[in-house]
Amino acid sequence: MSINAKSPKSSSKLKNILIIGNGGRENSLAWAIQKNEIVKKVYLVPGNAGSERIKKCERIKIDINNKIKLVEKLNFLKIDLIVIGPETPLAEGLADLLRKKDFRVFGPGKDGAKLEYSKSWAKEFMHDANIPTSKFWKVNSLEEAKKIIHLSPFPLVVKVDGLASGKGVFIPDSKEECFKAAESIFNGKFGDSGNVVVLEEKIQGPEVSVFALCDGERYILLPTAQDHKRLNEKDKGPNTGGMGAYSPTPLLTKKHLNRVIREIIEPTINELNKRNIDYKGVIYFGLMITKSGPKVIEYNCRFGDPECQTIMPLMDQNFVFLLEKCSMGRLTGDEKIKTPDKVSGCVIATSKGYPKEYKTGFQIKIGKIDPNDCQIFDSGTALNENGELLTDGGRVLSIVCQDKDFDMVFKKAYRNLKEINFEGIFFRSDIGHQVRKNINTGI
Ligand code: AMP
Ligand code: GLY
Repeated sequence: MSINAKSPKSSSKLKNILIIGNGGRENSLAWAIQKNEIVKKVYLVPGNAGSERIKKCERIKIDINNKIKLVEKLNFLKIDLIVIGPETPLAEGLADLLRKKDFRVFGPGKDGAKLEYSKSWAKEFMHDANIPTSKFWKVNSLEEAKKIIHLSPFPLVVKVDGLASGKGVFIPDSKEECFKAAESIFNGKFGDSGNVVVLEEKIQGPEVSVFALCDGERYILLPTAQDHKRLNEKDKGPNTGGMGAYSPTPLLTKKHLNRVIREIIEPTINELNKRNIDYKGVIYFGLMITKSGPKVIEYNCRFGDPECQTIMPLMDQNFVFLLEKCSMGRLTGDEKIKTPDKVSGCVIATSKGYPKEYKTGFQIKIGKIDPNDCQIFDSGTALNENGELLTDGGRVLSIVCQDKDFDMVFKKAYRNLKEINFEGIFFRSDIGHQVRKNINTGI
């Protein structure tokens, strides 16, 4: 796949890139960015134990909350472009601070990050711009919530307004469960994030993820993806951060995608402009394809994880120029990401017990991995004093493969996954079931 980013060389002095974050997402961004020959070094703050297995990558230890030291270090390293991965530093205004210090930053300011860090704000934003989404009620007290839940003919989805590390959404089957969810939030389980609750009509349909790289006015779409949020096969079990993904998804046909652009993406960017929000970063549209058309389930102000790991291998070396152009407000509108001749799939290996309690510190053994079109991006790993790789999180690593169709992709992914071992390793064996003819992986 190649990206036609106009006269890339002329635009750039992109020797030193810095990525903030410590997940598989950030490792995959680093991997895609280092492919460009003009990039000399990619620094990750803090990165994880897999970061330095990626060419040109180096981890640096610095507290991003110590702004003075951070800026000093970035100046010392002569950083040409900063990519902020996770939502928390974006919501805290890190991009604003770094831009004020004249750095080029890919990532929205605090005003744009509000699309993710306040669900009620995002819902009102969609309402004002006539963007299709489920009906909602913003409530400030348990009494108010109870009244609405009681009057509703159906159980409502209950959401914490603020950031909750993916744990703030409840999808109850009964009104009693709705009351309980609202009660737990207003009782302080989520701290200040739960001062406001959003109640939503429950909608149905397959979910897809769409990513727009945005320069403030213009945008370019990445290949679409589908995540697998549930822990277990057949999409059962509790919600997780994501157990695997594939890209692009045929669920979003050209016709659907045009509708998404017309009814969702362009109105979102127009509304941001109307509100004087100069959004330079990625907008993640979490969509549900309902019977009455695509609707927004949520916005995020960052790349999805594991969608990012899945999409990055489809990018060619010009990807970094797109990030730079966004950071400078200089997309021309002529950039094209050509239809891939390969598709990509990702399976996440987790620690036993995730997303609830799990143990870490188990040694990870990696055997012979296919050198062609197969990547391992660490999510939660650490090195011990002997340099051995250990589990250090719920989601431990992603195995990502590309090939000419999804059957080949997942055959390769599961074959290579057999080469990875740690105590309690868990993964779904049906990732990509929506697009595979044969889900007998031989496991
Ligand atoms: P969110 O963090 O808002 O994306 O929600 C997490 C998951 O909850 C989504 O991926 C959906 O599967 C589900 N969800 C959220 N809102 C709704 C809704 N209004 N109707 C049905 N399912 C929902
Ligand atoms: N894959 C879902 C997320 O990143 O929120």
